[in-house]
Amino acid sequence: MGERGPRVGRRGLLGAGLLAGAGAALSGCTSGDTPAAPSTSRPPPFDPASWESVRAQFPLDPSYAQFAAYVLASHPAQVRRAIEEHRRGLDTDTDAYLHGEDREEAVREAAAAYLGADAPDVALTDSTTMGLGLLYSGMRLLPGQDVLTTEHDFFATHESLRLLAARTGAKVRRARLYDDPAKASADEIVSRLKAALTPRTRVVAITWVHSGTGVRMPVRAIADMVAEANRSRDAEDRALLCVDGVHGFGAMADGVEDLGCDFLASGTHKWLFGPRGTGILWGRGRAWGALLPVVASFSNVTVDPGTGDEPYGPGGLLHTPGGYHSFEHRWALSEAFAFHRAIGKERVAARITEQATRLKAGLAALPNVRLITPVSAELSAGLVCCAVDGLDAPAAVGRLRRDHRIVTSATPYQDVYLRFGTSIVTTPEQVDQAVRAVATLR
Ligand SMILES: Cc1ncc(COP(=O)(O)O)c(C=O)c1O
Repeated sequence: MGERGPRVGRRGLLGAGLLAGAGAALSGCTSGDTPAAPSTSRPPPFDPASWESVRAQFPLDPSYAQFAAYVLASHPAQVRRAIEEHRRGLDTDTDAYLHGEDREEAVREAAAAYLGADAPDVALTDSTTMGLGLLYSGMRLLPGQDVLTTEHDFFATHESLRLLAARTGAKVRRARLYDDPAKASADEIVSRLKAALTPRTRVVAITWVHSGTGVRMPVRAIADMVAEANRSRDAEDRALLCVDGVHGFGAMADGVEDLGCDFLASGTHKWLFGPRGTGILWGRGRAWGALLPVVASFSNVTVDPGTGDEPYGPGGLLHTPGGYHSFEHRWALSEAFAFHRAIGKERVAARITEQATRLKAGLAALPNVRLITPVSAELSAGLVCCAVDGLDAPAAVGRLRRDHRIVTSATPYQDVYLRFGTSIVTTPEQVDQAVRAVATLR
């Protein structure tokens, strides 16, 4: 990939992210370092007002500070119970359970309530990556229309756009929105993106929170800038603002109206702690018309078998890939939304921000550390990236796990940083513990 990005094979992506840098850590692991098997004991009653009670719903090994838990969700008790219930139903009388209530619709409604959206605009997917694939593979482009993305997006966006270009011949351009992430500014981000927009730009593909630096995009200000550029354009020439939302979704409180984008793709198995293998693709009403479905839908769309005409129905249903799925996970997603809403979106966001702010202050004060993520809470979320003098990030990840029982990850990008995620399963005390641990790294 050369200048376009790091050489990230499947192992590379998983090693740097999913395994929380544990590839490096585990290679030097003694058996005593291996996390304990998940506890099967009953969690205490759920009191959404108590962070201790929230954390106790997760079977995560409490002897580790879990700063990479957002990479792939552990399931809280409510989600585990729902998965078990659906699994039992499917195993016991598959036909009756499958054709009973419209559980897919219930998930769509739960997602819509969480997003502040309309349920028919929500497509159900397996991941952010699948949502981006459906979005960019399905995009109809007119001759000469181009695509604008940025240097800071994840492989899933870049690769989906490369495939779009290979199929359509469309030009994909990448803008650089900041040179030094720690000094990024909202005005500069918006003006650099604006400068890169052409009258033929049909797709503006960005990421809400950059997983390589922790920088959070001012999505609303970008949406306003794009709306201004669209004023004089015909409907089929409007630039569509498409967002990979995965590190904001479940971490920040913004709904789709706050963001102002046209499409939002997100896994629900990261910060939302929903069932693994679930996600959403939301589109704004008529914007769905810009896409062709990529996979045949089995959702409640209308097909006229007599004429063989193409299926029709709301965008969220038409673009939900069909086939039978691991329904026990998909249907249990409603519980993840209910869990989060019981705690309160604003409270979750405040908790994450409070810890991230504390962590950044602690790290910034260390002489051996360079903070990569902006200090400003306006320009960051729960991801906190830093570089440690004289120690590469995978080694730092390994040392933190092995010597301090702190789980972190390394960024899967050209510039590899040590990355923390402050979330509902971490605490301010663990943040302080992490700062003390990083201070010892040489
Ligand atoms: C910005 C970004 N988008 C997408 C993904 C992939 O998410 P998913 O597992 O939901 O496809 C990741 C990391 O896993 C990421 O950092």
